[in-house]
Amino acid sequence: MNFRDRVSKDAYTSVDVAFTNYENLNLEDKMVYGDWLAQTHHYVHHVTRILAFAAAKCDLYQERELHFRLIKALNEEKNHDIMAANDLKNLGLTAEHFPERMETRNFYQVLFYMIETYGPYALVGYFIPQEGLSCIKLPDVYKRLVEIHGKKSCTFLMEHCELDIEHFGDALSFIKTIPENKLTIVQMGMTRSAELYADLMKSIGTTEDQILTTPYWNIAKTKMEFNQTIL
Ligand SMILES: [Fe+2]
Repeated sequence: MNFRDRVSKDAYTSVDVAFTNYENLNLEDKMVYGDWLAQTHHYVHHVTRILAFAAAKCDLYQERELHFRLIKALNEEKNHDIMAANDLKNLGLTAEHFPERMETRNFYQVLFYMIETYGPYALVGYFIPQEGLSCIKLPDVYKRLVEIHGKKSCTFLMEHCELDIEHFGDALSFIKTIPENKLTIVQMGMTRSAELYADLMKSIGTTEDQILTTPYWNIAKTKMEFNQTIL
């Protein structure tokens, strides 16, 4: 098997890794599903900024196609954070009920480092487990949750189960065309993303992170109040 075929095969493995902790996730419970939606909202909130950052890092001669792909994706991701927030609202909850977890921050903050250090192909890899998860694994989860929580609380899932069929297919075709020397970066993005997402899913519905989260927000709030006083 050549390395390009290896990376294509790893794309499916990364989907399985991302799905690892779903079997222990009791999404039928309103508060657990609420946490899933809130953490999704927290990281999706950064997705357009991340896409803009990666698009700006493209070389316009060598990475012209990627540059325009990322801008197209940026447009498609508009207001997806609000979609998750609306689902939460229809459950009678808000994102404030579920502060951003350490695992959520780990999931998206690492991405800025990877794009800065290895370039925009890291993002191509990073999205693959997410897109594969949405179109391969989550349609069954969606069907189950609609029956329990109602259609109005599952629009984020519905949209992504549908949208990501095309995105995942596109990503697999793209792997066949990208320069040989960028394949390692794509593979690294896939692996890191799948591992960190699995970590995040493991934390959903648990209370352990509150110990870390509470002081973090108190410090942030104090700093904001302090800055307002200075200004
Ligand atoms: Fe999205």
